Amino acid sequence: MTEYNFPKDFWWGSAASGPQTEGHVAGDGKGDSIWDVWFKEAPDKFFDGVGPDKTSQFMKYFKEDIQLMKQTGHNTFRTSIQWSRLIPDGTGAVNAQAVEFYNQVIDELLATGIEPFMNLYHFDMPAKLQEEGGWLNRETVDAYVKFAETCFDLFGDRVKKWFTHNEPIVPVEAGYLYQFHYPLHVSFKEAVQVGFHENLASAMAIEKYHATYDGQIGIILNLTPSYPRDENNPADVSASEYADAFFNRSFLDPAVLGHFPEKLIEVVQDLNIVPEMLPGDLQIIAENHVDLLGVNYYQPRRVKAKVSKKVAGSPVMPDDYFDNYEMPGRKMNPYRGWEIYEKGIYDILKNLKENYGNIECYISENGMGVEGEEKFRGENGEIQDDYRIEFVKEHLKYVHQAIGEGSNCRGYHMWTCMDNWSWTNAYKNRYGFISVELDHDGRRTIKKSGHWFKTVADSAGFTD
Ligand code: BG6
Repeated sequence: MTEYNFPKDFWWGSAASGPQTEGHVAGDGKGDSIWDVWFKEAPDKFFDGVGPDKTSQFMKYFKEDIQLMKQTGHNTFRTSIQWSRLIPDGTGAVNAQAVEFYNQVIDELLATGIEPFMNLYHFDMPAKLQEEGGWLNRETVDAYVKFAETCFDLFGDRVKKWFTHNEPIVPVEAGYLYQFHYPLHVSFKEAVQVGFHENLASAMAIEKYHATYDGQIGIILNLTPSYPRDENNPADVSASEYADAFFNRSFLDPAVLGHFPEKLIEVVQDLNIVPEMLPGDLQIIAENHVDLLGVNYYQPRRVKAKVSKKVAGSPVMPDDYFDNYEMPGRKMNPYRGWEIYEKGIYDILKNLKENYGNIECYISENGMGVEGEEKFRGENGEIQDDYRIEFVKEHLKYVHQAIGEGSNCRGYHMWTCMDNWSWTNAYKNRYGFISVELDHDGRRTIKKSGHWFKTVADSAGFTD
């Protein structure tokens, strides 16, 4: 048996987001986001036709939910402020009901001994701004900075950990390359512009925050380590470096180091898709770095040199620089179709230590989505999710090892607290420590993993 002891002040908790949990309440003054619009246009795109209107009803149940967080060992919890709830049209008046709601949530968390971590953008562009081009439009950057300042002014006296974006590469790849988020475009040029504006918006919000406030501000990135098929094959290694530049370093480098990676610059120059920018933009990015980095880790990316032929007339894509590689014998989460590779979390932390100044960081999402979890509900009504306990434990062992070797990792957040609505997957795959039964008006029950996590958090570790 080995003891895995974590620092006494380690952050134990989970992550969620406003659009995936809150739901709508009649007369709440919320404006539409791209998700509301898309759901109205094409409900069939969403698993079982479940949209963003109801979700887990956190607006209705937040007091009870925060008690459940306590019962599952949380000392910290991350969610997001929905831009379209706080400022319904994205740029105009503040919605007083939203202010009251977020104030209540923050106060309730603090009163329960749970520190709120607050994110500002989690894929939820206000519909009015999307009509004007969303992240393609420079004016969205200014609107975002105003939104960020409004949040700092309203809630910054109590919220001391802020994040500018969750997984900003996702709006780039999902919205402008691979068509799994609105507006479903396919354009490498647009993707590059969107990514640039998100980076700039983040740096500008950080600049404002540092000028006036005394907490920490960071960004949450889904770092997906790129492993070459064969480390001794230079073509495979080069392909994996391209994938790393596109999907990890495009945000990690500017956020922590203040500049874009060479490989990315090379590609956008070669393809003549350098984003439009104003004089001084690169300076803003160079001078305003994050204080804290959130690391979302679910799966590795395995890559080999490009061999597949490009279909004539198909658009230029990042994938022109690498092929994905299916490693024989890889361990899979069969429900989500994602590889489970626990050591990836250690490799990320090591990379941050060696190449990113050992920036203060924490695991801001890690988790296992399982379809049809009801079949694991035992006679006592509790979901027996031993697979999730195993998943978390095996990842925590590697986090423990990295900390032992000097990583500045300060905490671990599961995705997610209670089962929530996951974009077009809706409630297909369940991730929570707490189950939500949609047929029973969102009835909550703590799963076996939630009880287990409390024992881990209470003793700051586990034995295995
Ligand atoms: C994370 C996102 O990448 O993955 C979450 O930050 C999302 O918003 C989670 O819900 C799970 O996604 P999926 O696609 O498995 O439902």
